[in-house]
Amino acid sequence: MAIQKVGVAGCGLMGSGIAQVCAMAGFTTLVREVNHDLVEKGIKGIEKNLGRLVEKGTITEAAKGEIRGRLKGTIGIEELRDCDLIIEAIIEQLSAKRELFAALDGLCPAATIFASNTSSLTITEIATATKRPQRFVGLHFFNPVPVMKLVEVVKTIATDPAVYEEMVAFGAKLGKTPVRAHDSTGFIVNRLLVPYLLDAIRALEEGVGSVEDIDSSMKLGCGHPMGPLALLDFVGLDTTYYIANIMFEEFRERRFAPPSLLKRMVLAGWNGRKAGRGFYDYADAREPKAMKF
Ligand code: 3HC
Repeated sequence: MAIQKVGVAGCGLMGSGIAQVCAMAGFTTLVREVNHDLVEKGIKGIEKNLGRLVEKGTITEAAKGEIRGRLKGTIGIEELRDCDLIIEAIIEQLSAKRELFAALDGLCPAATIFASNTSSLTITEIATATKRPQRFVGLHFFNPVPVMKLVEVVKTIATDPAVYEEMVAFGAKLGKTPVRAHDSTGFIVNRLLVPYLLDAIRALEEGVGSVEDIDSSMKLGCGHPMGPLALLDFVGLDTTYYIANIMFEEFRERRFAPPSLLKRMVLAGWNGRKAGRGFYDYADAREPKAMKF
């Protein structure tokens, strides 16, 4: 079955990025949020991104119009029923994801493929909320979705190999490089990234270096686009704390255990860029100032 229409559940940071790349790749795209304000906010963000691409000359004004024409927002879950593929990018909470997929399972024909963008939950456990675990995969994108070139395509023990190959090909059609990963908590990227980020916090706790020096070290010494502490602020400290806890519960290894500074920052609401404060203070967003700990 050729994928023509893609449904995206969730139009937050990840969902709107996924919807944008689907529409840009030529797919008719329907993105669903729970209320009109969230639909409007998500679509406005996509329009702003497309506008920036026109300004830079990456796409023409006409192409922007075509992309926008392929993209629609909705609050009605039942409108997703005629999509060939539905990619879920809602809140990272197992019960909410299972509930959504159980509802979609009742609405969609048996042929529809379901995918979750979860970063840390087990795809198998989400898939069993439906009667189609053989047509269920993980499609894990990276923030900012329009920029990051990777998509992890995650296979469970129940995924039909033909469906899996179709999803690998779909990832490539989006202009991403698809990598194949098994349904192991954190897949490939977070398995490696999360211990690295947590170690950077431990290094800070132990006084190995300041916020600036830890970040400069990895940027200038290893060629990373962002230092680990700036990346933590970018991903969100609450999100990282949540993922680390799930990974620690799964693997029982210290490298996944959230350091106490991370826990305290989350408790204080210092969740990074979106909160205005994390390892940096974003009072002046163009010139974040490193915090002293
Ligand atoms: N949406 C769309 N485009 C964006 C964007 C956004 N939110 N943010 C930046 N861009 C574009 C810019 O327009 C620019 O495009 P151009 O090269 O065509 O002009 C390009 O990205 C570079 O942006 P800037 O010049 O403003 O800034 P930087 O060069 O510092 O790049 C960055 C910003 C792309 C975010 C870069 O710092 C980076 O790659 N950081 C690391 C990001 C990362 O590691 N992401 C993965 C996080 S882990 C994850 O998502 C998994 C989850 O499970 C935790």
